[in-house]
Amino acid sequence: MNPIELSKNVYWVGAIDWMTRDFHGYSTDRGTTYNAYLIIDEKVTLIDTVKEGYRRELMNRIRNIIDPKKIDYLVVNHVEMDHSGVLPDVIREVEPEKVICSKMGHKALMKHFHEADWPYHVVTPGEEMSLGEKTLSFVETRMLHWPDSMFTYLKEDQILFSSDAFGEHLASSERFDDEVNQDVLMYEATKYYANILTLYSPLVKKLIKQVQDMHLPIKMIAPDHGVIWRKNPGKILEAYSRWCVNEGNGKALVIYDSMWHSTEMMAKSIAAGLLDKGINYKLVNLQVNHRSNVMCDVLEASAIILGCPTLNNGMLPRMAGFLMYMRGLRPTNKIGAAFGSFGWSGEAVKLMNTAMKEMNFTLVHKGLKVQYVPEHGHLEECVELGHAVGQALLDMKEGKDIEAVI
Ligand code: FEO
Repeated sequence: MNPIELSKNVYWVGAIDWMTRDFHGYSTDRGTTYNAYLIIDEKVTLIDTVKEGYRRELMNRIRNIIDPKKIDYLVVNHVEMDHSGVLPDVIREVEPEKVICSKMGHKALMKHFHEADWPYHVVTPGEEMSLGEKTLSFVETRMLHWPDSMFTYLKEDQILFSSDAFGEHLASSERFDDEVNQDVLMYEATKYYANILTLYSPLVKKLIKQVQDMHLPIKMIAPDHGVIWRKNPGKILEAYSRWCVNEGNGKALVIYDSMWHSTEMMAKSIAAGLLDKGINYKLVNLQVNHRSNVMCDVLEASAIILGCPTLNNGMLPRMAGFLMYMRGLRPTNKIGAAFGSFGWSGEAVKLMNTAMKEMNFTLVHKGLKVQYVPEHGHLEECVELGHAVGQALLDMKEGKDIEAVI
């Protein structure tokens, strides 16, 4: 249980969760970490704790450096249980002089743990706190991604403890960005943003500007999940700056489910139409792609084409579930279209169109439905749908306004 030194007297003392594979419906295929940080100074400070079940790992790492009873301050950057689950036990053992949190953090701690007597110290945004030789300051990051969220900045070491922001769900023995595979790191960082932060993109944009305006020199970003950005913190800041404005990569995603391959045949003909227009695309069958992986592609795609047959006057459950998930994350700035086969009622296309309109997608086709099994003429219509979406993407690239047809 070795602690890892980030800089002199600043240590990672968190826990590695190699086993978790689900975070509220987000598939964490590579596990995760719950990061906590210990600062040794006149006032010994622990920043964040870990999920229930990992207290021993946290405390053993701390014990390798110092007797936990010597901890004076406990900073709670974020109240969600993966970072505060062991808080009552830690507070009981450590008996800290201060439990430091935001105003909303105080409310959330009270609602979670119902402990009025903890020695709360509610910080105001920008407040500075001397630990002796080192100084902490606090940046309120409300709704990124909970009301209580805040960053803590360690001035002398130029380390930003960024809570959930800039993290990844990635279990590894390596603790720093320069020690892990870069493709895996950026894939997991993208997936994390896509599945947790997409709906807060306007706030991310504001926060990045706020941090830039504060002119905080940032040598390292130390999030609560995944690796610490020491070699290239600019890389993740640049990625967030790009993701939060939903620029789009000019590509189309054809996301579909199928019962007896009719809708799949339509998907392939639509793809052929996209290719005619020189548009790169990806076919995503929901039977074999987890919604949280699909959201990675949604984050960066410029067009979303949804395909689903009608079942019981509605959609197949996988598409209905995916739409519910995507709608919650509110991706913006997308071109959209829908298609699907049906037997006798055929509501699925309309339902998918409605869902996309609710997300403010620009629908460039009224939608295409085919009874039972498509024949050649139907597949030609699918190719034309691909052409319509492809042309809209080409127009968008040239800066032209795209008109919605419904
Ligand atoms: Fe990692 Fe919002 O908790």
